[in-house]
Amino acid sequence: MAQFPKLTDRPEWAALADHRDRGRPHLRELFAKDPGRAERYVVRVGDLHIDYSKQLVTDETLALLRQLAAATGVSALRDAMFRGERINVTEKRAVLHTALRAPRDAVVEVDGENVVPKVHAVLDQMAGFAERVRSGEWTGHTGKRIRNVVNVGIGGSDLGPAMAYEALRPFTARDLTFRFVSNVDGADLHEATRDLDPAETLFIVASKTFTTIETITNATSARSWLLKAFDGDHKAVARHFVALSTNAEKVTEFGIDPDNMFAFWDWVGGRYSYDSAIGLSLMIAIGPDRFREMLDGFRLVDDHFRTAPAEANAPLLLGLLGIWYDNFLDAQTHAVLPYSHYLSKFTAYLQQLDMESNGKSVQRDGNPVEWQTGPVVWGTPGTNGQHAYYQLIHQGTKLIPADFIGFARPVAELSGELKAQHDLLMANFFAQTQALAFGKTAEEVRAEGVPEEQVAHRTFHGDHPTTTILATELTPSVLGQLVALYEHKVFVQGAVWNIDSFDQWGVELGKVLAKRVEPALTEGADVPGLDPSTTALVAAYRTLKNA
Ligand code: F6P
Repeated sequence: MAQFPKLTDRPEWAALADHRDRGRPHLRELFAKDPGRAERYVVRVGDLHIDYSKQLVTDETLALLRQLAAATGVSALRDAMFRGERINVTEKRAVLHTALRAPRDAVVEVDGENVVPKVHAVLDQMAGFAERVRSGEWTGHTGKRIRNVVNVGIGGSDLGPAMAYEALRPFTARDLTFRFVSNVDGADLHEATRDLDPAETLFIVASKTFTTIETITNATSARSWLLKAFDGDHKAVARHFVALSTNAEKVTEFGIDPDNMFAFWDWVGGRYSYDSAIGLSLMIAIGPDRFREMLDGFRLVDDHFRTAPAEANAPLLLGLLGIWYDNFLDAQTHAVLPYSHYLSKFTAYLQQLDMESNGKSVQRDGNPVEWQTGPVVWGTPGTNGQHAYYQLIHQGTKLIPADFIGFARPVAELSGELKAQHDLLMANFFAQTQALAFGKTAEEVRAEGVPEEQVAHRTFHGDHPTTTILATELTPSVLGQLVALYEHKVFVQGAVWNIDSFDQWGVELGKVLAKRVEPALTEGADVPGLDPSTTALVAAYRTLKNA
């Protein structure tokens, strides 16, 4: 593997640190000095209008960041990813979620095989199945039509379809009920199924590996729930269970008919997979045409990322802004604040995308990193957050860069007063980014007649960085564009940090230990190697459990 010079020894890094140390004017002054800033600091990709004028950067900052990207080979790694090279070095895998949205006639090769035909074969298989469920042609064991679809999966096999289902609810078949079960806490499956008729329920077991303990446990319990309703008749499983997986052997072993399996491949990472077979529940909900519109949205941003010049490349820009805050201004977190109720699960989805990808402290060559990597990603939809934690963003002591995502029009279903509320929602959206950036000076507060002892409390320093992402409406295509934007942003950061953004070894240890601890909880067995604190806690648990 090519030796990657230490990031912090690069002259481009030193130049950025020096630039930071020289300081910079408050955002108020940056705008005052540069009347064209608001127009110039905008990048457009597809339907997304991305305004970064309220970021703590100047032309010089941006130029230096682009130099860092060039020096660290971001574009070379990007091209290697699109070519299907095995850039997931620790798992020796290609990283080709972009092939999932490639057009039918594209050629993307992995080890000399064009994978696009098989991507489209699965999309066609999904479309056929989705149409049959939507039309009522696919019936349950007793001949009743399917009314409920329950996706059983976790991590990437849950968050993506659950987020997208929520985001695109206005486009969904309203005569079907969709539920997403992920937690191994039995309460999750219980609540998801307690009011459902098994004869009308389809379970979609989504698991890339088909070995994930939470999913297999929930799927097994779901199967028992179903079989109980059909006096143990195993023939029912074929009409009520389908699988989304790369592991045909395990799917068969579980008892799901391989004809009811929708495949994907090891070059699709779990957190990059909801546009693969993992999106089957979503496709049933919104229909194949809308699903394809969403894929087109993804592809639009893929093409942009691949071809747009650095100055106008949106994922590159967002990635580099994150590097600026994370590595040079000591920000620890990044807030994503969608002003759309339909994006209520978007930030949770991004948490896995970003934190599982870039939560790393070892470089691609195995050496430790000596710089900050991925931020803590968090946030909830506006305006709820305004009445909860925005106080800290406005007047706390931490630097919290934030993305504000909003839409010019509410979804088509809203009318009358509810439609009119959209302007109020968006008034808050714009007001917040203005208040964060420009704040309110002590003089302004005094001029309002505020008593002197309150002036400091009611002063807003401002200078809090935000990006505003605006689109006309939250359509399937726009959702695809947004997700691809963040996927590639995460990629850019991983490339600069020289980490493998596509493995997730950090989740393994907990999984292994859980397997070891379980017998201690159920049977009181001794678990060799448990630390004293955990041993004491397990003992306390058993006492409480049996009290
Ligand atoms: O959390 C670890 C992880 O492997 C994720 O990367 C993945 O999305 C999730 O578990 C579920 O995995 P699977 O789809 O194989 O069940």
